[in-house]
Amino acid sequence: MSRIQRLIRDMTLAEKLGQLTMTAAGYAVTGPVIAGDSTDGIKSGAIGNLLNLVGADHVHEMQRLAIEQSRLGIPLLVGLDVIHGHRTLFPIPLAEAGTFDPRLWELTASEAAAEAAADGLAMTFAPMLDVSRDPRWGRSAEGAGEDPWLGMQMAAAKVRGFQGASLAAPHTLAAVAKHFCGYGPVNAGREYASVDISERTLREVHLPPFEAAVAAGVVAVMPAFTDLAGIPLTAHVDLLRGWLRGRLGFDGVIISDYNAIAELIRHGVAADLTEAAVLALKAGVDIDMMSNAYRSGLPIALEHGLVSLADIDAAVHRVLALKENLGLFENPYGRGARAESAATLTRRRQLAREAGARAIVLMKNEADCLPLRADPARIAVIGPLADAPGEMRGPWWAAGVAAGHVSVLEGLRTALPHTDIVHAQGTDILGTDTGGIQAAVDLCDAADAIVLCVGEAAAMSGEAASRAHLDLPGQQRLLAQSVIERAHARGRHVIVVLFSGRPLILPWLFEEADAVLAAWFLGCEAGHAIADVVTGRVSPSGRTPVSWARALGQVPVFFGERPTGRPADPKDHFTSKYLDVPNDPLFAFGHGLTYGRFTLSNLRVSPPRVRESDDIQIKVDVLNEGAREAEETVFLFTRDRLASVARPLLELMGFAKITLRPRAQGTVTLNLAAAQLKFLGLNLQPVFEPGEVEILVGPCADRSRLLVHCIELMR
Ligand code: NOJ
Repeated sequence: MSRIQRLIRDMTLAEKLGQLTMTAAGYAVTGPVIAGDSTDGIKSGAIGNLLNLVGADHVHEMQRLAIEQSRLGIPLLVGLDVIHGHRTLFPIPLAEAGTFDPRLWELTASEAAAEAAADGLAMTFAPMLDVSRDPRWGRSAEGAGEDPWLGMQMAAAKVRGFQGASLAAPHTLAAVAKHFCGYGPVNAGREYASVDISERTLREVHLPPFEAAVAAGVVAVMPAFTDLAGIPLTAHVDLLRGWLRGRLGFDGVIISDYNAIAELIRHGVAADLTEAAVLALKAGVDIDMMSNAYRSGLPIALEHGLVSLADIDAAVHRVLALKENLGLFENPYGRGARAESAATLTRRRQLAREAGARAIVLMKNEADCLPLRADPARIAVIGPLADAPGEMRGPWWAAGVAAGHVSVLEGLRTALPHTDIVHAQGTDILGTDTGGIQAAVDLCDAADAIVLCVGEAAAMSGEAASRAHLDLPGQQRLLAQSVIERAHARGRHVIVVLFSGRPLILPWLFEEADAVLAAWFLGCEAGHAIADVVTGRVSPSGRTPVSWARALGQVPVFFGERPTGRPADPKDHFTSKYLDVPNDPLFAFGHGLTYGRFTLSNLRVSPPRVRESDDIQIKVDVLNEGAREAEETVFLFTRDRLASVARPLLELMGFAKITLRPRAQGTVTLNLAAAQLKFLGLNLQPVFEPGEVEILVGPCADRSRLLVHCIELMR
């Protein structure tokens, strides 16, 4: 008999339900229920898992209660949202997606895991795999943007990074793929709202990242708070038991979101906590996070025959198996046994700086005003986000305390010690006071360059942070326009550093500023990373992982849209267009300038005719005609023009990078398995249909900038 079987044999019902319960330990309040003291529950075996507790000492203290004072000595599983770093904060996931660098995605996850594990943690509620095409939704910040294929690559890299080669190693964390699934398209971008999408969109867009996470070995999944066409995911039998467990063979732990089982009552599908518990358990949810529904409801449900002991035992088995895989039985104090060295922390911050610089997207660079000319005499650094170290963290900063983050002002002062760097805030991020604007504007007169730092506050994206207006908050537009006007009157350039957890809709800013850097939220080394790009120490290489709308009324705007029978035609009134704005986004997915100047030519695709089992090789020459070394990102898209089901206008199938010195030329090779060209046919089953497919290669999803080559698919 295995250890797990023996334990299950010996457990009381209360102890079993304890293993299916996760309670907040009070470090962070992440939902409507505020936790009290958990110690008695741990000792009695009524609480088997904790969230929101950090610090190896604290975790070990709780662990000791479980090991030494509970009857069966089963170790606790302790988790936290380690979304983009633990104490050392890396760029937010949306920003990191824009590096298009799987090596980096994996590395930051493994560093975050090591740091969090050294703090005693064994689980992170990450990565977030929700595809998001609506910037009103604040949680866009936590994911990889609009594209499912990009989401798949990032999902796999993050799972590999968090979980490492062996989950039993003390520097790994159990990853939780969340939020399963289709949370991104909440109605009108409003947090927690209802979702209703087609079965096809669900399968083509929202499920693939989860499939990739499962294929990469993710050990846990968290259902979304939301419902899908009337069925809350927490109670979704078809998707949890059917698709996830049945079809994908996922045998890990399903852990509810915070209070989500209890919320089945407000969703209107359960009359009380007992019914809610029954629905969740029957759907396959193993751990109840913060609803107290399993502990209070399942004993009653069992008595009335609404659930079976076998259902409960199966869930307990999965939880204990995860604890075993994590090495918690053998070594309950392994995570957090040793403090990390100063050298490790220094190296990690260096990685945060590198990741930060790689995530910055140079959206506009008129007259090549970036990078700054060497050693300017004076720079004015203006705006409410210029000297705001705490804001650099972005949403969901886990255990990243407010201190120790590098502001833009500090970064520039360090990078340019001989430059006189003057600063004025001008206005608050959110406030209505305009009293400081004049002093800020006056700084433009004697400055060689102006760096204007504006955007959202960190807490304006992330969970429960939907916005209906995506302009700059507070009085920042007035500040920006006043500064730009004065600077231009004096013949100076204004470089905008834009902070946001989503693409803000600022056509006026992109028009009026001379240069714009989308800095998203870059984490603890933000200021150094920004200074690296501004001074030219690093040539920017980030690309926007979302189509950047020009007007809120265009939302959702994304490159993977399907064609219409009436494509936009300015000469024909009855076509698919707006009367007041163009259809295309202001910046296409993948847009991002560098300090080089790249041209792509000579697209070669072989073989010209392919069968399903073939590999397609795609080559393109890249020339850097600019004066600086830089890294170019090359995207591979396909377009199936004629199929039994209308295919998207563009489908992302790959990307690659090349670094070239001035006037150097190189060749980029992209490989595509023909099987990737399968799609879900009329009956939603995968088909490989013969016919022509366009292979498109270029710097972004703007069709006019793509090189095209046709191949033929054969049976
Ligand atoms: C609610 C969020 O939706 C989820 O992503 C998070 O993991 C939990 N709270 C725990 O903090």
